[in-house]
Amino acid sequence: MADVHITIDGQSLTVPSNYTVLQAAESAGINVPTLCAHPSLKPIGACRICLVEIEKQRVLQPCCTFPVSEGMVVRTNTPKVREARRFVLDLLLSDHPLDCMTCQKAGDCTLQDLAYEYGIKESTFAGLQHDWPLQDANPFITRDYNKCILCRRCVRACEEINGVAAIGPLNRGFDTKIGTAYDGELQDSPCEFCGMCIALCPTGALQPKASIGKGRAWETHKVTTICPYCGVGCTLDLNVKDNRVVQVTSNWEGPSNHGWTCVKGRFGWDYIENEERLTTPLIRKDGELVPATWDEALDLVADKFAGYAKEFGPNALGFLSSAKCSNEENYLVQKLGRGVIGTNNIDHCARL
Ligand code: SF4
Ligand code: SF4
Ligand code: SF4
Ligand code: FES
Repeated sequence: MADVHITIDGQSLTVPSNYTVLQAAESAGINVPTLCAHPSLKPIGACRICLVEIEKQRVLQPCCTFPVSEGMVVRTNTPKVREARRFVLDLLLSDHPLDCMTCQKAGDCTLQDLAYEYGIKESTFAGLQHDWPLQDANPFITRDYNKCILCRRCVRACEEINGVAAIGPLNRGFDTKIGTAYDGELQDSPCEFCGMCIALCPTGALQPKASIGKGRAWETHKVTTICPYCGVGCTLDLNVKDNRVVQVTSNWEGPSNHGWTCVKGRFGWDYIENEERLTTPLIRKDGELVPATWDEALDLVADKFAGYAKEFGPNALGFLSSAKCSNEENYLVQKLGRGVIGTNNIDHCARL
Protein backbone atom coordinates (compact mmCIF):
# COMPACT_ATOMS: atom_id res chain seq x y z
CA MET A 1 0.00 0.00 0.00
CA ALA A 2 1.48 3.37 -1.04
CA ASP A 3 1.93 6.06 1.59
CA VAL A 4 0.58 9.61 1.64
CA HIS A 5 1.91 12.69 3.42
CA ILE A 6 -0.52 14.65 5.55
CA THR A 7 -0.46 17.20 8.36
CA ILE A 8 -2.60 16.87 11.48
CA ASP A 9 -2.51 19.62 14.10
CA GLY A 10 0.83 20.76 12.69
CA GLN A 11 2.41 17.28 12.79
CA SER A 12 3.72 15.95 9.48
CA LEU A 13 2.77 12.30 9.05
CA THR A 14 3.38 9.58 6.52
CA VAL A 15 0.55 7.02 6.61
CA PRO A 16 -0.82 4.26 4.37
CA SER A 17 -3.16 5.63 1.70
CA ASN A 18 -6.02 3.38 2.86
CA TYR A 19 -6.12 5.01 6.30
CA THR A 20 -8.97 7.17 7.52
CA VAL A 21 -8.10 10.53 9.07
CA LEU A 22 -8.99 9.02 12.46
CA GLN A 23 -6.54 6.14 11.98
CA ALA A 24 -3.86 8.61 10.93
CA ALA A 25 -4.51 10.80 13.99
CA GLU A 26 -4.44 7.82 16.34
CA SER A 27 -1.22 6.55 14.81
CA ALA A 28 0.36 9.88 15.85
CA GLY A 29 -1.14 9.76 19.36
CA ILE A 30 -3.64 12.54 18.57
CA ASN A 31 -6.86 11.90 20.45
CA VAL A 32 -10.13 12.55 18.62
CA PRO A 33 -13.37 11.73 20.45
CA THR A 34 -15.47 8.92 19.02
CA LEU A 35 -18.76 7.27 19.92
CA CYS A 36 -19.81 5.12 16.96
CA ALA A 37 -16.32 4.21 15.72
CA HIS A 38 -14.39 1.24 17.11
CA PRO A 39 -11.23 -0.40 15.75
CA SER A 40 -13.02 -3.78 15.53
CA LEU A 41 -15.92 -2.44 13.44
CA LYS A 42 -16.33 -0.95 9.99
CA PRO A 43 -16.82 2.82 10.33
CA ILE A 44 -20.26 4.24 9.48
CA GLY A 45 -20.02 7.89 10.57
CA ALA A 46 -23.24 7.79 12.59
CA CYS A 47 -22.62 10.02 15.61
CA ARG A 48 -20.65 13.02 14.23
CA ILE A 49 -18.68 13.55 17.44
CA CYS A 50 -15.40 13.08 15.55
CA LEU A 51 -15.84 16.12 13.29
CA VAL A 52 -12.59 17.83 12.25
CA GLU A 53 -11.54 20.69 9.99
CA ILE A 54 -9.96 19.61 6.70
CA GLU A 55 -8.52 22.28 4.41
CA LYS A 56 -10.36 22.62 1.08
CA GLN A 57 -13.48 20.95 2.56
CA ARG A 58 -16.50 23.26 2.74
CA VAL A 59 -17.83 21.81 6.04
CA LEU A 60 -16.46 19.86 8.99
CA GLN A 61 -15.98 16.17 8.22
CA PRO A 62 -16.31 13.02 10.37
CA CYS A 63 -12.73 11.80 10.53
CA CYS A 64 -13.68 8.16 11.26
CA THR A 65 -14.91 7.71 7.68
CA PHE A 66 -12.92 10.37 5.80
CA PRO A 67 -9.98 8.88 3.82
CA VAL A 68 -6.55 10.50 3.89
CA SER A 69 -5.11 11.95 0.69
CA GLU A 70 -1.77 13.41 -0.38
CA GLY A 71 -1.10 16.85 1.07
CA MET A 72 -4.17 16.88 3.32
CA VAL A 73 -4.12 19.37 6.22
CA VAL A 74 -6.32 18.54 9.23
CA ARG A 75 -7.10 20.37 12.47
CA THR A 76 -8.78 18.34 15.20
CA ASN A 77 -9.25 20.77 18.07
CA THR A 78 -10.13 24.27 16.85
CA PRO A 79 -12.89 26.42 18.46
CA LYS A 80 -15.14 25.63 15.48
CA VAL A 81 -14.59 21.89 15.92
CA ARG A 82 -15.18 22.02 19.67
CA GLU A 83 -18.36 24.05 19.18
CA ALA A 84 -19.67 21.48 16.68
CA ARG A 85 -18.92 18.65 19.11
CA ARG A 86 -20.69 20.53 21.92
CA PHE A 87 -23.72 20.85 19.65
CA VAL A 88 -23.69 17.11 18.89
CA LEU A 89 -23.48 16.31 22.61
CA ASP A 90 -26.25 18.79 23.34
CA LEU A 91 -28.50 16.97 20.88
CA LEU A 92 -27.58 13.54 22.23
CA LEU A 93 -28.29 14.58 25.81
CA SER A 94 -31.63 16.14 24.84
CA ASP A 95 -33.08 12.61 24.91
CA HIS A 96 -31.03 11.02 27.66
CA PRO A 97 -32.00 10.32 31.28
CA LEU A 98 -28.86 11.91 32.89
CA ASP A 99 -28.93 9.10 35.38
CA CYS A 100 -25.19 8.95 36.09
CA MET A 101 -25.67 8.84 39.87
CA THR A 102 -27.11 5.33 39.74
CA CYS A 103 -26.11 4.17 36.26
CA GLN A 104 -24.00 1.01 36.24
CA LYS A 105 -21.91 2.45 33.40
CA ALA A 106 -20.80 5.61 35.23
CA GLY A 107 -17.02 5.78 35.26
CA ASP A 108 -16.77 3.68 32.12
CA CYS A 109 -19.11 5.66 29.86
CA THR A 110 -17.82 7.50 26.80
CA LEU A 111 -20.87 9.78 26.72
CA GLN A 112 -20.35 10.74 30.36
CA ASP A 113 -16.63 11.36 29.74
CA LEU A 114 -17.39 13.62 26.77
CA ALA A 115 -20.08 15.56 28.66
CA TYR A 116 -17.47 16.12 31.39
CA GLU A 117 -14.77 17.16 28.91
CA TYR A 118 -17.07 19.58 27.09
CA GLY A 119 -18.71 20.87 30.28
CA ILE A 120 -22.27 19.93 29.40
CA LYS A 121 -24.46 19.39 32.45
CA GLU A 122 -27.77 19.16 30.64
CA SER A 123 -29.18 19.78 27.19
CA THR A 124 -30.33 23.23 26.10
CA PHE A 125 -33.08 21.58 24.00
CA ALA A 126 -36.37 21.07 25.80
CA GLY A 127 -38.64 18.54 24.18
CA LEU A 128 -39.91 14.99 24.06
CA GLN A 129 -37.89 12.29 25.81
CA HIS A 130 -38.36 8.57 25.39
CA ASP A 131 -39.57 6.38 28.20
CA TRP A 132 -38.84 2.95 26.80
CA PRO A 133 -39.49 0.08 29.25
CA LEU A 134 -36.43 -1.91 30.42
CA GLN A 135 -36.05 -5.15 28.45
CA ASP A 136 -34.45 -7.85 30.55
CA ALA A 137 -36.57 -11.00 30.18
CA ASN A 138 -33.47 -13.15 29.72
CA PRO A 139 -30.75 -14.38 32.08
CA PHE A 140 -27.87 -12.20 30.84
CA ILE A 141 -28.52 -8.77 29.33
CA THR A 142 -30.46 -5.71 30.52
CA ARG A 143 -31.41 -3.31 27.74
CA ASP A 144 -32.31 0.29 28.61
CA TYR A 145 -32.81 2.08 25.32
CA ASN A 146 -33.45 5.40 27.07
CA LYS A 147 -29.64 5.52 27.33
CA CYS A 148 -29.10 4.49 23.71
CA ILE A 149 -27.49 7.04 21.38
CA LEU A 150 -28.16 4.96 18.24
CA CYS A 151 -24.49 4.61 17.43
CA ARG A 152 -25.25 1.10 16.09
CA ARG A 153 -22.09 -0.37 17.53
CA CYS A 154 -24.16 -3.22 19.03
CA VAL A 155 -25.79 -3.92 15.67
CA ARG A 156 -22.43 -4.06 13.92
CA ALA A 157 -20.85 -6.13 16.71
CA CYS A 158 -23.65 -8.67 16.38
CA GLU A 159 -23.30 -8.85 12.61
CA GLU A 160 -19.59 -8.26 11.99
CA ILE A 161 -18.02 -9.91 15.05
CA ASN A 162 -20.48 -12.59 16.13
CA GLY A 163 -22.00 -13.11 12.68
CA VAL A 164 -25.55 -13.38 13.96
CA ALA A 165 -27.46 -10.14 13.18
CA ALA A 166 -30.00 -10.68 15.94
CA ILE A 167 -30.62 -6.93 16.36
CA GLY A 168 -31.04 -3.90 14.14
CA PRO A 169 -32.66 -0.47 14.02
CA LEU A 170 -36.47 -0.46 14.23
CA ASN A 171 -38.90 2.35 13.32
CA ARG A 172 -37.98 5.71 11.80
CA GLY A 173 -36.99 9.22 12.91
CA PHE A 174 -37.41 10.09 16.60
CA ASP A 175 -38.85 6.63 17.34
CA THR A 176 -35.84 4.78 15.97
CA LYS A 177 -34.81 2.11 18.43
CA ILE A 178 -32.49 -0.89 18.40
CA GLY A 179 -34.22 -4.22 18.84
CA THR A 180 -34.83 -7.71 17.60
CA ALA A 181 -37.30 -8.48 14.82
CA TYR A 182 -40.74 -7.16 15.88
CA ASP A 183 -39.09 -5.77 19.05
CA GLY A 184 -39.32 -9.06 20.90
CA GLU A 185 -37.13 -10.49 23.62
CA LEU A 186 -33.54 -11.49 22.95
CA GLN A 187 -34.14 -15.10 23.89
CA ASP A 188 -36.83 -15.35 21.20
CA SER A 189 -34.36 -14.08 18.58
CA PRO A 190 -31.23 -15.67 17.04
CA CYS A 191 -29.20 -14.00 19.85
CA GLU A 192 -26.49 -16.31 21.20
CA PHE A 193 -25.79 -14.14 24.26
CA CYS A 194 -22.17 -13.67 23.33
CA GLY A 195 -22.34 -10.23 24.98
CA MET A 196 -20.37 -8.47 22.24
CA CYS A 197 -23.10 -5.85 22.02
CA ILE A 198 -22.47 -5.01 25.69
CA ALA A 199 -18.72 -4.94 25.11
CA LEU A 200 -19.08 -2.38 22.30
CA CYS A 201 -21.86 -0.19 23.73
CA PRO A 202 -20.37 3.21 24.67
CA THR A 203 -23.20 4.03 27.11
CA GLY A 204 -25.19 2.26 29.82
CA ALA A 205 -27.88 1.09 27.39
CA LEU A 206 -26.67 -2.52 27.51
CA GLN A 207 -25.54 -4.05 30.78
CA PRO A 208 -24.61 -7.53 32.00
CA LYS A 209 -27.50 -8.36 34.33
CA ALA A 210 -25.47 -10.25 36.93
CA SER A 211 -23.02 -7.35 37.36
CA ILE A 212 -25.52 -4.58 38.08
CA GLY A 213 -25.04 -3.21 41.58
CA LYS A 214 -21.88 -5.25 42.17
CA GLY A 215 -19.44 -2.35 41.76
CA ARG A 216 -18.53 0.60 39.53
CA ALA A 217 -15.59 0.60 37.09
CA TRP A 218 -13.30 2.54 39.45
CA GLU A 219 -13.90 -0.01 42.24
CA THR A 220 -12.70 -2.95 40.20
CA HIS A 221 -9.41 -3.99 38.73
CA LYS A 222 -8.89 -6.22 35.72
CA VAL A 223 -7.14 -9.57 35.89
CA THR A 224 -6.32 -11.02 32.49
CA THR A 225 -6.82 -14.76 32.25
CA ILE A 226 -7.64 -17.61 29.88
CA CYS A 227 -11.25 -18.82 29.72
CA PRO A 228 -11.57 -22.13 31.59
CA TYR A 229 -14.33 -23.58 29.41
CA CYS A 230 -12.81 -24.97 26.21
CA GLY A 231 -9.65 -25.49 24.23
CA VAL A 232 -9.87 -22.31 22.10
CA GLY A 233 -8.10 -20.50 24.93
CA CYS A 234 -9.86 -17.12 24.70
CA THR A 235 -8.28 -14.29 26.67
CA LEU A 236 -10.69 -12.63 29.12
CA ASP A 237 -10.47 -9.83 31.65
CA LEU A 238 -11.93 -10.68 35.04
CA ASN A 239 -13.21 -7.51 36.71
CA VAL A 240 -12.49 -8.02 40.39
CA LYS A 241 -13.80 -6.15 43.40
CA ASP A 242 -12.89 -7.14 46.97
CA ASN A 243 -11.29 -10.31 45.62
CA ARG A 244 -14.52 -11.39 43.89
CA VAL A 245 -15.25 -11.55 40.17
CA VAL A 246 -18.10 -9.15 39.34
CA GLN A 247 -17.91 -9.06 35.54
CA VAL A 248 -16.02 -10.46 32.55
CA THR A 249 -14.99 -7.97 29.86
CA SER A 250 -13.36 -8.32 26.46
CA ASN A 251 -9.60 -8.30 26.15
CA TRP A 252 -8.97 -6.93 22.66
CA GLU A 253 -5.37 -8.15 22.67
CA GLY A 254 -6.36 -11.83 23.07
CA PRO A 255 -4.53 -13.68 20.27
CA SER A 256 -7.17 -16.38 19.77
CA ASN A 257 -10.35 -14.32 20.21
CA HIS A 258 -9.50 -10.60 19.71
CA GLY A 259 -12.10 -9.53 22.28
CA TRP A 260 -14.86 -11.96 21.26
CA THR A 261 -16.31 -14.39 23.79
CA CYS A 262 -19.08 -16.96 23.77
CA VAL A 263 -21.88 -16.98 26.33
CA LYS A 264 -19.92 -19.23 28.70
CA GLY A 265 -16.81 -17.08 28.75
CA ARG A 266 -18.75 -13.82 29.11
CA PHE A 267 -21.44 -14.82 31.58
CA GLY A 268 -20.54 -18.21 33.03
CA TRP A 269 -18.47 -17.01 35.99
CA ASP A 270 -21.01 -17.41 38.81
CA TYR A 271 -19.78 -20.96 39.49
CA ILE A 272 -16.68 -19.45 41.10
CA GLU A 273 -18.66 -18.49 44.21
CA ASN A 274 -21.16 -21.36 43.99
CA GLU A 275 -21.56 -23.04 47.36
CA GLU A 276 -22.15 -26.41 45.70
CA ARG A 277 -18.60 -26.52 44.31
CA LEU A 278 -16.58 -29.50 45.49
CA THR A 279 -13.66 -28.42 47.63
CA THR A 280 -12.46 -31.85 48.76
CA PRO A 281 -12.48 -35.35 47.22
CA LEU A 282 -15.48 -37.55 48.08
CA ILE A 283 -15.34 -41.35 48.49
CA ARG A 284 -18.49 -43.46 48.48
CA LYS A 285 -18.76 -45.49 51.69
CA ASP A 286 -21.86 -47.56 52.44
CA GLY A 287 -23.70 -45.79 49.65
CA GLU A 288 -22.84 -42.30 50.95
CA LEU A 289 -20.29 -39.83 49.53
CA VAL A 290 -18.03 -38.76 52.38
CA PRO A 291 -15.16 -36.24 52.33
CA ALA A 292 -11.68 -37.70 52.05
CA THR A 293 -8.08 -36.52 51.80
CA TRP A 294 -6.37 -36.41 48.40
CA ASP A 295 -4.02 -39.24 49.52
CA GLU A 296 -7.00 -41.45 50.40
CA ALA A 297 -8.76 -40.69 47.12
CA LEU A 298 -5.68 -41.20 44.93
CA ASP A 299 -4.72 -44.44 46.72
CA LEU A 300 -8.24 -45.76 46.16
CA VAL A 301 -8.17 -44.88 42.44
CA ALA A 302 -4.72 -46.45 42.02
CA ASP A 303 -5.85 -49.67 43.76
CA LYS A 304 -9.00 -49.90 41.61
CA PHE A 305 -7.09 -49.23 38.37
CA ALA A 306 -4.47 -51.85 39.22
CA GLY A 307 -7.14 -54.36 40.27
CA TYR A 308 -9.26 -53.95 37.10
CA ALA A 309 -6.20 -54.05 34.83
CA LYS A 310 -5.01 -57.24 36.48
CA GLU A 311 -8.40 -58.96 36.46
CA PHE A 312 -9.71 -57.85 33.02
CA GLY A 313 -6.59 -56.66 31.16
CA PRO A 314 -5.46 -53.04 30.51
CA ASN A 315 -7.98 -52.48 27.72
CA ALA A 316 -10.79 -52.76 30.25
CA LEU A 317 -9.80 -49.23 31.20
CA GLY A 318 -10.09 -46.00 29.16
CA PHE A 319 -8.89 -42.47 29.86
CA LEU A 320 -10.90 -39.37 29.00
CA SER A 321 -9.17 -36.03 29.30
CA SER A 322 -10.38 -32.52 28.61
CA ALA A 323 -9.63 -29.48 26.47
CA LYS A 324 -10.05 -27.46 29.66
CA CYS A 325 -6.79 -28.97 30.94
CA SER A 326 -3.38 -27.70 30.00
CA ASN A 327 -1.30 -29.48 27.33
CA GLU A 328 0.94 -30.78 30.12
CA GLU A 329 -2.01 -32.29 32.01
CA ASN A 330 -3.34 -33.94 28.84
CA TYR A 331 0.13 -35.31 28.13
CA LEU A 332 0.29 -36.81 31.62
CA VAL A 333 -3.15 -38.45 31.26
CA GLN A 334 -2.16 -40.22 28.05
CA LYS A 335 1.18 -41.15 29.62
CA LEU A 336 -0.66 -42.71 32.56
CA GLY A 337 -2.92 -44.67 30.18
CA ARG A 338 -0.23 -45.85 27.79
CA GLY A 339 2.89 -46.02 29.95
CA VAL A 340 1.52 -47.11 33.33
CA ILE A 341 -1.70 -49.03 32.57
CA GLY A 342 -0.78 -50.19 29.06
CA THR A 343 -3.87 -49.17 27.07
CA ASN A 344 -4.37 -46.93 24.04
CA ASN A 345 -7.97 -46.19 25.06
CA ILE A 346 -7.32 -42.44 25.25
CA ASP A 347 -9.69 -39.68 24.20
CA HIS A 348 -10.74 -36.19 25.16
CA CYS A 349 -13.78 -33.97 25.05
CA ALA A 350 -14.05 -30.17 25.25
CA ARG A 351 -17.15 -30.48 27.40
CA LEU A 352 -15.55 -32.55 30.16
S1 SF4 B 1 -25.22 6.00 30.06
FE1 SF4 B 1 -23.48 7.25 30.66
S2 SF4 B 1 -24.21 9.36 30.49
FE2 SF4 B 1 -25.99 8.03 30.50
S3 SF4 B 1 -26.65 7.92 32.61
FE3 SF4 B 1 -25.27 6.19 32.28
S4 SF4 B 1 -23.23 6.93 32.87
FE4 SF4 B 1 -24.56 8.72 32.62
S1 SF4 C 1 -25.47 -11.02 22.78
FE1 SF4 C 1 -24.29 -11.42 20.89
S2 SF4 C 1 -25.76 -12.45 19.55
FE2 SF4 C 1 -26.99 -11.46 21.18
S3 SF4 C 1 -27.56 -9.44 20.35
FE3 SF4 C 1 -25.63 -9.16 21.52
S4 SF4 C 1 -24.00 -9.38 19.96
FE4 SF4 C 1 -25.89 -10.25 19.08
S1 SF4 D 1 -27.51 0.08 22.51
FE1 SF4 D 1 -25.48 0.99 22.88
S2 SF4 D 1 -24.24 0.23 21.15
FE2 SF4 D 1 -26.37 -0.09 20.60
S3 SF4 D 1 -26.91 1.70 19.40
FE3 SF4 D 1 -27.51 2.10 21.52
S4 SF4 D 1 -25.76 3.15 22.45
FE4 SF4 D 1 -25.05 2.23 20.56
S1 FES E 1 -17.05 8.44 15.63
FE1 FES E 1 -17.05 9.36 13.68
S2 FES E 1 -19.11 9.70 13.24
FE2 FES E 1 -19.15 8.61 15.14
